[in-house]
Amino acid sequence: MTSNQERLKRAAAEKALELVQDGMLLGLGSGSTARYFTEGVGRLVASGMKLRCVPSSRATAELAAELGIPIVQELLGAIDLAVDGADEVDPNLNLIKGRGGALFREKIVAAASKRFVVVVDESKLVKHLGVDALPVEVSPFLWRTTAERLIALGSSLTVRGGEEAPFITDNGNLILDLTFDGGIDSPVGLATAIKVTPGVVEHGLFVEMTDTQRAGSKGPPLDFSGGTGGRVRSKAQHWKCCTAARLSWVQIPTRPPDSAANTRGHTSGWIPRSPLSPRHRTGQAGHPISGCW
Ligand code: 5RP
Repeated sequence: MTSNQERLKRAAAEKALELVQDGMLLGLGSGSTARYFTEGVGRLVASGMKLRCVPSSRATAELAAELGIPIVQELLGAIDLAVDGADEVDPNLNLIKGRGGALFREKIVAAASKRFVVVVDESKLVKHLGVDALPVEVSPFLWRTTAERLIALGSSLTVRGGEEAPFITDNGNLILDLTFDGGIDSPVGLATAIKVTPGVVEHGLFVEMTDTQRAGSKGPPLDFSGGTGGRVRSKAQHWKCCTAARLSWVQIPTRPPDSAANTRGHTSGWIPRSPLSPRHRTGQAGHPISGCW
């Protein structure tokens, strides 16, 4: 990772901070780009802004707690704004997420939000999704039968971390990384097919969920066309380009405000606790898969 890429990630995340308003309930994403946003929210809280958050992973919950951001444990309405990173973004603002392993909670947070903003550096922009692996979270129970069904959809796959010491998610599950020769033709169709596969907990295709993308880039316009200078081809109804900050972004009008405007949550210093032993916590090697049953 170049320092320039880090700079662009930070720039994209900080641009999204401009959307934050006093009193908001925020969804906090996971990964290195989303971390910059969380750190910025921490600064806003320290400066006196009244904000609450729903973290999308244990790692983000721990960071939010360290930064003094009040954490909401349960929702009775919608999150005002969720900001998260992504692994791939196509011109229709469909995403692949989950290479950090947090896709399940990230998707719940995004789906619970009135507005979902994705912050990426320009290396994440692709013409077609599926340049690299699509993460799928599966139950460890009879996982091989789940894997066989996913292979039948045209993928080849690997168990993240390997079968001897698999990566275990915050939810106690496995991640299968699927690759598709030639990429993903129909993200909508594939998302549906994977979702109905028994054993699948969630997949990393975020289709038609993104309202806005904020991408740190070397210079405008955002280019999904492989360097030929094409403009963003997306659902965007208008686009805006901020040359001074060397940032470009696509702006789509927000969804209609949720009628459940009386969003209430229970604020506390809560951090989700793992029901699993420390050995099973996210990002750490678990038992061989047969030991997870
Ligand atoms: C984690 C994710 C991340 O948002 C995605 O992997 C991007 O991470 P980064 O900003 O570190 O490149 O989906 O599950």
